[in-house]
Amino acid sequence: MNILLLGSGGREHALAWKLVQSAQCDQLFIAPGNAGTAKCGTNVALSATDFPAVKDFVLKNGIGLVVVGPEEPLVKGITDFFRKDADLQQVLIIGPSQYAAQLEGSKAFAKQFMERHNIPTAAYREFDASNFNDGVEYLKQHALPVVLKADGLAAGKGVLICQTTEEAVSEFEQMIRQSKFGEASRKVVVEAFLSGIELSVFALTDGKSYVTLPEAKDYKRIGEGDTGLNTGGMGAVSPVPFADAAFMKKVDEQIIKPTIKGLEAENFDYTGFVFFGLIKVGEEPFVIEYNCRMGDPETEVVMPRLASDLVELLLAAAQGKLQHVSIQQDPRVACTVMAVSGGYPGDYEKGLPISGLDQQLPADSLLFHAGTGIKNGQTVTNGGRVLCVTSYGNSIGEAVNKSKTALEQISYDGIYFRKDIGYEF
Ligand code: AMP
Ligand code: GLY
Repeated sequence: MNILLLGSGGREHALAWKLVQSAQCDQLFIAPGNAGTAKCGTNVALSATDFPAVKDFVLKNGIGLVVVGPEEPLVKGITDFFRKDADLQQVLIIGPSQYAAQLEGSKAFAKQFMERHNIPTAAYREFDASNFNDGVEYLKQHALPVVLKADGLAAGKGVLICQTTEEAVSEFEQMIRQSKFGEASRKVVVEAFLSGIELSVFALTDGKSYVTLPEAKDYKRIGEGDTGLNTGGMGAVSPVPFADAAFMKKVDEQIIKPTIKGLEAENFDYTGFVFFGLIKVGEEPFVIEYNCRMGDPETEVVMPRLASDLVELLLAAAQGKLQHVSIQQDPRVACTVMAVSGGYPGDYEKGLPISGLDQQLPADSLLFHAGTGIKNGQTVTNGGRVLCVTSYGNSIGEAVNKSKTALEQISYDGIYFRKDIGYEF
């Protein structure tokens, strides 16, 4: 079968690496891809949100399966576009409908869904211009810190944790009345602050049944010791030491099962990955957020730990046959360390030549490209997060050390990576 993977980050390189290992994968195309995905298949210069162009490519190249990496095409309705087009009826697609993708695209939609299905999450209220004054009153009596979330997609910046009531009221006003996050903050979810430790759990579902993939923990802050600005993710580890069997059983029973039951009960068209952003408070799991796709950089440790054939899993999901499937995990630890551009997550340069990519990595290390491209035959930087090395090990420390050693052989102007991924374990 010919497969088209949409996206261009480290997540997509890890997915591409895993997809081409399957005997069921004939040709793999990645649109638009990066310099790393070009080594797994054929990069195609088309945008994942240009649906007519995607259709044209799918029909001309006999694509049987489309895998959607990032959220944007999903939130914009790529799955509905495929379902409604007579020429695309036979093409399988991994990713939920536009309606279901609101679990990621609208915080209020996600909170209402969790409320309907009794899924543990922080207490909340939602406000917009029509009940602005009620919102201010609500904030004035709310315990601190208090969490303000722009309802819509805000490039990972739409969540504010406010330490004082004055700050909360001021931010609330800027979000709703001054469009601080544009259209995304016309509505704001105000929720209670939960204190605990976060992890990411992933399920693949056909809308009725599901399989749970290896869990992971990512490191979002730019600085060592989890300091400084938020980033897309500076590294990840899997498995997560505090997510023991008893805790994961609670996650399954209190969160994953009721979520999938909810999707089914409400007739969501949901074939694809569900990303549960969780927080462990005491011994109890709570949902911080849903995403309708895999995480990045979590995928760069989850795929290496997935021993099962990914194409078989995706076909089972797309054909509604996941109840017959189980998953094999690699028992080893996998850790990834992300190298970023100098200045990231602020302004940074692109197009800088990368050297050291031809080194022979140890057998238990993998190089995944994120923001890279090819200019005049030379691999260059093309994003904030540039590339990462995932390594296997018997412990987190051992795996992280291998990744750091490999990254030290790679250079470009301004290269930076955290040396302390997994430090707390
Ligand atoms: P989100 O975009 O919903 O994942 O939020 C971004 C980050 O804000 C999360 O990864 C958490 O670190 C933090 N956060 C969000 N909601 C809460 C909450 N209710 N309590 C504590 N931290 C939160
Ligand atoms: N690593 C978090 C995300 O992919 O949203």
